[in-house]
Amino acid sequence: MRVAVFSTKSYDRTFLSQANARYGHELVFFEARLDRQTAPLAAGFECVCVFVNDRLDQPALTTLAQGGTRLVALRCAGFNNVDLAAAERLGLAVVRVPAYSPHAVAEHTVGLILSLNRKIHRAYHRVRDGNFSLEGLMGFDLAGKTVGVVGTGKIGTVVARILHGFGCRLLGLDPMPNPECLRLGMEYLELEPLLARSDIVTLHCPLTPQTHHLINARSLQQLKPGAMLVNTSRGAVIDTPAVIQALKSGRLGSLALDVYEEEADVFFQDLSDQVIQDDVLARLLTFPNVLITGHQAFFTREALQAIAETTLGNIAQFEQTGRSPNQVTAQQVVKPPAG
Ligand code: NAI
Repeated sequence: MRVAVFSTKSYDRTFLSQANARYGHELVFFEARLDRQTAPLAAGFECVCVFVNDRLDQPALTTLAQGGTRLVALRCAGFNNVDLAAAERLGLAVVRVPAYSPHAVAEHTVGLILSLNRKIHRAYHRVRDGNFSLEGLMGFDLAGKTVGVVGTGKIGTVVARILHGFGCRLLGLDPMPNPECLRLGMEYLELEPLLARSDIVTLHCPLTPQTHHLINARSLQQLKPGAMLVNTSRGAVIDTPAVIQALKSGRLGSLALDVYEEEADVFFQDLSDQVIQDDVLARLLTFPNVLITGHQAFFTREALQAIAETTLGNIAQFEQTGRSPNQVTAQQVVKPPAG
């Protein structure tokens, strides 16, 4: 198929081109993000291949449909950036990569927890500056602590498995409790008791209307004072200004983010010689107890190979049969997919 690949970086080109040796699609790489302004670039392409911060709203999808596009191939798991109802109305199929490496995201999550708890990110700079003082670097033992996992699908389950190995107690929130998590001794609760009892809360649910701003001023009131919050799911699961208030009051002890609600204008770019225009992000970056990475949890060799392979396979299958088992529909937004 003729595929317009948007939001491409050097690593996307490398892994997609390697995998394409087996598929023979015609891949044309664009650095631009796909949105309503750039959608005309896809005219004449049967397929567009997009990533997490491409914005496929109704106007963008309408332009794509008018230009002859029939397939939107997401090279990610989340599909919150596509108006699926509009895609369906316009006759555009949407496919995604439901699982590529839950280990990549889970291991990064645990890396964030360890770094933030033991302040490794601060110690790194301190020691390089010849400062070997331990003042302000004290952490806590993970063994025996209680971790609340919100969303126990593929990634949440691997996080639970790793933290079980550290000797943590596990609480969970998920409309569909996971048998492996139950075997690990996870206790499933509603949000409020989970927040009240967890020393660490880690988010692994998809972004849906139900999970939008799940962590907000009201739910943060339920949090165990001084708890750690980790978000590697999607930025808008938390209300960032409310989280900043909770950090200022001390209710929230520390925060690790790999995703941010307004990340589309910032992440995946080198802005090191520019003034950050986003005051909320700039404020977050001033806290000593906040650790942010720029949506890199997925970023392992194994994950990129799997993403490229599944994405090109999805496209080939759609080309041959008109469908793919990895297709997503508007119903899945109301009732999210199971793990
Ligand atoms: P999954 O579909 O296997 O698991 C999601 C789980 O969340 C399911 O068990 C589902 O029942 C549960 N869930 C749905 N609504 C919920 C709610 N209201 N409250 C609590 N749980 C709810 O998905 P997977 O592969 O584990 O990925 C989870 C999320 O991680 C993705 O949706 C995506 O947003 C994010 N992600 C982030 C990456 C990164 O690089 N930071 C990379 C890959 C995924």
